[in-house]
Amino acid sequence: MLNTNRKIIFISLAIAIAAACVFVFEGIYQEAKSAAITKLNQQQAIYARQAARGLEEFFATWTRNLNVLSGMNAIIADDREGKAILKLLYETNEVRITEIFRVDEKGVIRDDFPDSDAVGLDISHRKHFIAMLRDHKPTVSEAFRSIEGVDSVALHVPVLQGTEFKGSVGILIDFNSLAKRYLDVIKVGETGYAWMISREGTTLYTPVPDFIGKSLSAVEKDASLSALVNAMLQGREGTGEYTSQRIRDQHVNTIRKYAVYFPVRLGNTFWSICVASSEQDVFADLTTFRNKLAVTMSIFFFIGAALSTLGARAWLIAKEQEKNARSELEIARQRHQLAHLSRVNMLGELSGSLVHELSQPLTAILSNAHAAQLLLEHSEPDLNQLRDILGDITADDERAGEVIRRLRQLLKRGEVQFQPLRVNELVEEVLKLLRSELLDRGVTVQTKLAPKLPVLQADRVQLQQVLINLVTNACDAMADMPRAARALTVRTELDGDDVVLISVCDAGTGIAEGKLEQVFEPFFSSKANGMGLGLSISRTIVNAHGGRLRAEHNPVRGAMFHLMLPVSPPRTTQ
Ligand SMILES: Nc1ncnc2c1ncn2[C@@H]1O[C@H](COP(=O)(O)OP(=O)(O)OP(=O)(O)O)[C@@H](O)[C@H]1O
Ligand SMILES: [Mg+2]
Repeated sequence: MLNTNRKIIFISLAIAIAAACVFVFEGIYQEAKSAAITKLNQQQAIYARQAARGLEEFFATWTRNLNVLSGMNAIIADDREGKAILKLLYETNEVRITEIFRVDEKGVIRDDFPDSDAVGLDISHRKHFIAMLRDHKPTVSEAFRSIEGVDSVALHVPVLQGTEFKGSVGILIDFNSLAKRYLDVIKVGETGYAWMISREGTTLYTPVPDFIGKSLSAVEKDASLSALVNAMLQGREGTGEYTSQRIRDQHVNTIRKYAVYFPVRLGNTFWSICVASSEQDVFADLTTFRNKLAVTMSIFFFIGAALSTLGARAWLIAKEQEKNARSELEIARQRHQLAHLSRVNMLGELSGSLVHELSQPLTAILSNAHAAQLLLEHSEPDLNQLRDILGDITADDERAGEVIRRLRQLLKRGEVQFQPLRVNELVEEVLKLLRSELLDRGVTVQTKLAPKLPVLQADRVQLQQVLINLVTNACDAMADMPRAARALTVRTELDGDDVVLISVCDAGTGIAEGKLEQVFEPFFSSKANGMGLGLSISRTIVNAHGGRLRAEHNPVRGAMFHLMLPVSPPRTTQ
């Protein structure tokens, strides 16, 4: 029961500490993760801003160049010189631009280098041309597939003569090479790349060439993207998250992406660049940190668990000791009551013999007192006789007094002191007490004491009384033997696991056949001045200890008395 309680306490402690460690781990880890995401986004924002600035700069430069051209008379007139200027400009910028052209006020291409086939083509219906016609401002077209099959964007600058619209001068830019220059170079971590959409939501650039020119909503169907795209289509800058589905090895993987978007402002229109990295880049940075954190938290867990276990154990031990102390007190109290009860029981057994035992000296005293009264009636009383009578009265009175004194001692409810008792020490003490008497009576004592006997819980003084009586009885029984034969042996041994046995053996007259139990009866004595109470009191004391006292014939000669005492827990060795 106690062990189960302990287990429950220890398991609960371990769970509580583990939960605290997981909680702290999660807190720190999430903090580090959001810091890593912020850092990643800062890096992505730098790339996005640089690309946007590069693209804006490119268009601004060409707008300026074309503005200069559009102000030239030769260009306004679109004469031979004008055509020569256009051709020269194309030839010097062949690597940057695909075509250079002049469109008349009706929207028909008049000159085109190097693509002369385009001359005569009517572009008046195109959105960017219509916008330019309306606003007289430079315009950038949507990306479109040119006749040559190249993905292109056109930049038109209006040609104005005063306020009169005279068409436009413009360039065609290979959008792919432009994107390559500014967007393809963007690589963040393992997975980060840029993509760009037009104001209309057409994919202008992604590293997946198939998607270019298509509407973003047609290629990326994930709903989480729409909030981000909405913000991008409003020309805003910011950060966002979206999930993207990728099919790899026939498995659909959902990848969370962290993105930064930034607008590219191009006069009449704008594009929007998005730089996005997948979650695994954030985790890549965090892996070492997370592992170290996990190790630290594990160490915390073990230290915490060890300290709490020690604390809990100390607390349990203290509780247990308190409980043991209480139950020991309880046992002692019960024994004490038991001892008292058995003595009270004995009073009942004694009462019959007691009346007899006390009435005898009292009767003797009474008749002696009468005799003394009669003597005193003589004119000359015999003083010697009177002295004898008074001597007898005193002796009888003393005997009656002794009976009463012994009984009072037995029946008195004194505190029985159950204390740790080493039986061998008890034997040695008693033999020491009786040493001079044993010497006087010529008794040789031999002891055979077993080592390492358990410590008993017993009343030392009461057991001394028992042993003194056993040794004295043995001496009395050997009084008529020759001195050399007066041998007394006291033995201690462990009987089984939980009983300590003390045996007192003598070589005296022995106990008559059939009287082995009778000797324990109160007032049974074979001695002239014996009270016959020693053994009965001894048995009461031993019974109160939960033990037994019995007599046996000594196989050689004499009697043996065996005193058996139970080992009370806690059990230690002496
Ligand atoms: N070792 C023994 N050998 C032979 N007889 C014994 C021995 N011990 C006791 N007895 C007998 O048992 C009787 C009762 O002994 P018990 O000790 O009760 O009383 P007691 O010695 O006669 O008187 P007291 O009350 O003073 O002890 C003894 O008188 C004796 O006859
Ligand atoms: Mg005796």
